[in-house]
Amino acid sequence: MIPESFIQELLARIDIVDVVERYVQLKKAGANYQACCPFHSEKSPSFTVSPSKQFYHCFGCGAHGSAISFVMQYAGLGFIEAVEDLANSLGMPVPREVGAHSQQKARQAPLTERMAQAARFYKDQLKASPVAIEYLKGRGLTGEIAARYGLGYAPDEWQGLQRVFDDYTSPALAECGLVIDNEQGRRYDRFRDRIMFPIQDQRGSVIGFGGRVLGAGEPKYLNSPETPLFHKGEELYGLPQARKEIQQQNMVLVVEGYMDVVGLAQSGVENVVATLGTAATGINIQRLIRLADRVVFCFDRDAAGERAAKRAMEVSLEYLVDGKSIEFLYMDGNQDPDEFVREHGKEAFLRQTLNAARLSDFLVRKLMQESNTHTAEGRARLVSEAKPLLQKISAPVLRVQITKEVAKYAQLSQAELEAQCGLKSLAWNRNAPPPQGRLRPAPNALERTLLMTVLRRPERAARLPLDLIAQDNAEGAALVAVADAIEHAALLSGNLGLLIEYFRGSAHEEIIATISGRIEEDAGDEGEQERVFIDTVERLHEQALHRQIEEMNAKARAGALSTEERQTLARLLSRKRA
Ligand code: GTP
Ligand code: MN
Repeated sequence: MIPESFIQELLARIDIVDVVERYVQLKKAGANYQACCPFHSEKSPSFTVSPSKQFYHCFGCGAHGSAISFVMQYAGLGFIEAVEDLANSLGMPVPREVGAHSQQKARQAPLTERMAQAARFYKDQLKASPVAIEYLKGRGLTGEIAARYGLGYAPDEWQGLQRVFDDYTSPALAECGLVIDNEQGRRYDRFRDRIMFPIQDQRGSVIGFGGRVLGAGEPKYLNSPETPLFHKGEELYGLPQARKEIQQQNMVLVVEGYMDVVGLAQSGVENVVATLGTAATGINIQRLIRLADRVVFCFDRDAAGERAAKRAMEVSLEYLVDGKSIEFLYMDGNQDPDEFVREHGKEAFLRQTLNAARLSDFLVRKLMQESNTHTAEGRARLVSEAKPLLQKISAPVLRVQITKEVAKYAQLSQAELEAQCGLKSLAWNRNAPPPQGRLRPAPNALERTLLMTVLRRPERAARLPLDLIAQDNAEGAALVAVADAIEHAALLSGNLGLLIEYFRGSAHEEIIATISGRIEEDAGDEGEQERVFIDTVERLHEQALHRQIEEMNAKARAGALSTEERQTLARLLSRKRA
């Protein structure tokens, strides 16, 4: 965990305009800055950055948030990574807990340099090897694509790397997986006579390699081992090259192999990455759905592809969020994406992706394949197969949808299936229990309006009649929390980006994010906003008064009003008339 105070300090010191400008060219437009949105494809700019609010917002796709969320969204980083990235850019030392991480970074630096040197060496060797060049040409690759992916060739020598590393015996070389020490203490290159695919991290540093034999041979691919730099389960091959196109298309294709990535890019399909090793991991999925709203997995139609698809589906269930689409595509025929696109071309490949099955359909279809629902036994089997999968689904709305679908085939009601699978009927909001108690007309409209106006100008919080705000709804509870936070951290006032980050991970995160995503759209001018705020506060007072009168009236009807209370009632009524 990063201390909250550090996040606040960071955001107070950073300027969101600088951060966004690192990636996107901004143009001044009045008090704000504008650009074409980096998160969806558009011709005229609807992406705005507000320096006063330290907040960005796209009128087109609704993307919005603080400087931290921008980096998370743009670079597909996790929260901690994004904070680190921003802190590094300011030269701010990151506090202790994360500090361990930075120390690790410092230890990694020399290894990163070694990997870069090795990548350069392999690249040069490719230029010098007609056989390797022929091989790549034979696979339809041009020099341009080879350069774009930094492809190389490891020469057919036991100690080729000695030519780049004077200190070939250094432990660092073994640590980054470039060499192997045998039992006799003899050291030799891990990669020999192979086409080299450098694997880059999100910043573009080489952290590992995949090496393919030229032609036939075993193993076909040899990969770097796990090292301090390289964690197979976390990385996506080809991400730095694909990033821009992923953002443009708001879609990412995930394939099984290096050659699929490179081959598709060669045909002009550039929003492609590969998982390393067979199956997608939770970390992969989390990153992928941060990068784009649509994630399409392409699998070969063979046993390995089948297994990988099933695994990717299971993992996806745990990380899926409503509003994101994860899809599965089996390539037609027995070709993998690289072979397919080479034979049929880009358009035919893209047409295929339109036929990808949504996660929900894919799941139901898989279940149906495994059970014969014409018999009671088969339907019982369906339920038992479905149970662990349904339990995994993290997206509440989708879970209900899929449960309904499965229930239909199982010939159960939704409630029966939920009971069978031990699914609690879903609370609609993770943190706040559904509103209970007194029902009011238009439940939280007033609180919602107030929250909206307060988020626009947090200094308004000081003028809220806190005791009149119902906290039995998400908006009201958030409103009180916001007011409280502002009272205790004056710094939050005015800086919407900071405020949002302050509530990250809290029960109020979701509602605050939702409403702050709308404030620009429903804005109106400042005077209008202020009137709305004042009116709404007044209506809260009116409502309170009304309630008091009703309670008194009820008591009066029961004949239980004292003289004093009768006077109070009269006073309340006259206030109401006023
Ligand atoms: P090409 O035959 O060059 O077109 O590669 P491909 O991508 O079609 O190969 P395949 O579908 O067999 O493998 C997909 C991915 O699995 C590769 O990119 C590797 O990451 C991995 N892989 C394949 N073969 C091996 C192997 O022998 N050892 C290891 N460790 N990984 C492999
Ligand atoms: Mn292939």
